[in-house]
Amino acid sequence: LDTLIQYIITENRFLDLSKQWKSFLDLYDNQLQTQISIIFDSEYPTIIDSDKRKLRIDFKNDGLNYKKKKAGLQSESISRALGAGKKGLRVLDLSAGMGIDSVFLAQMGYHVTAIERNPVLFLALDQALQQARQQNLDFAENIEFIFSDAIDYLKKTEQVFDVCYFDPMFPQKKKMALPRQEMVLFKNLVGSDDDAADVLKLAINSKKFNRCVVKRPLSAQPLLLASGAVTGKIIRYDIYGGTA
Ligand SMILES: C[S@@+](CC[C@H](N)C(=O)[O-])C[C@H]1O[C@@H](n2cnc3c(N)ncnc32)[C@H](O)[C@@H]1O
Repeated sequence: LDTLIQYIITENRFLDLSKQWKSFLDLYDNQLQTQISIIFDSEYPTIIDSDKRKLRIDFKNDGLNYKKKKAGLQSESISRALGAGKKGLRVLDLSAGMGIDSVFLAQMGYHVTAIERNPVLFLALDQALQQARQQNLDFAENIEFIFSDAIDYLKKTEQVFDVCYFDPMFPQKKKMALPRQEMVLFKNLVGSDDDAADVLKLAINSKKFNRCVVKRPLSAQPLLLASGAVTGKIIRYDIYGGTA
């Protein structure tokens, strides 16, 4: 492979943004698992792979992924698993991904610090957050994204949290319905999170949290023996530290 990342700038006004991304990615592109192009054709750069699958993070205009939910702390299963506010509102999300869960939690009033180790995803998350702040979206002040491996972050941070949320990549099923194109690119970009159990162990042993919650497919074993769970139709939130 010559270059892992190709930069395509369609308008001069995105030149600075593309330069910022390139200087950051020049440092970290050795962590990428796949060849991609990044198209700078709006405030929300598009990541595209060799099969033309696309991924773009846009908290404002992507209603499918980030639609503002009206439901409260008590009625959403992710929030019930986190203690519905009774265990505190300061969440450390160890696996930001596309920020879907982080944004959802922030919309409900949680204060979210979300960690992402993939450099391309981190840049896309941070850019989407900057745009959301400029547009005064109400949840935007409730989130921050940090570029780090969760293990390094847990070891170093002195920030105080109440609860911890973790959504590592689901284990590959043998037979699967065709996933959305975006998900295929996403999986190729981040690979599998084989260190998930170690991350969870460290989070629990750090004693920084009243509770840790891990999102799993219903069919998968818990990462570690759990103390409780909130179970939905296709996923389960395993609880470590206090029952639901
Ligand atoms: C399944 S996705 C999370 C999806 C996310 N919950 C959402 O709503 O968009 C897993 C993400 O966590 C990240 N991740 C997994 N383990 C990590 C770790 N130890 N440190 C930092 N990021 C991690 C992966 O790079 C990937 O982007």
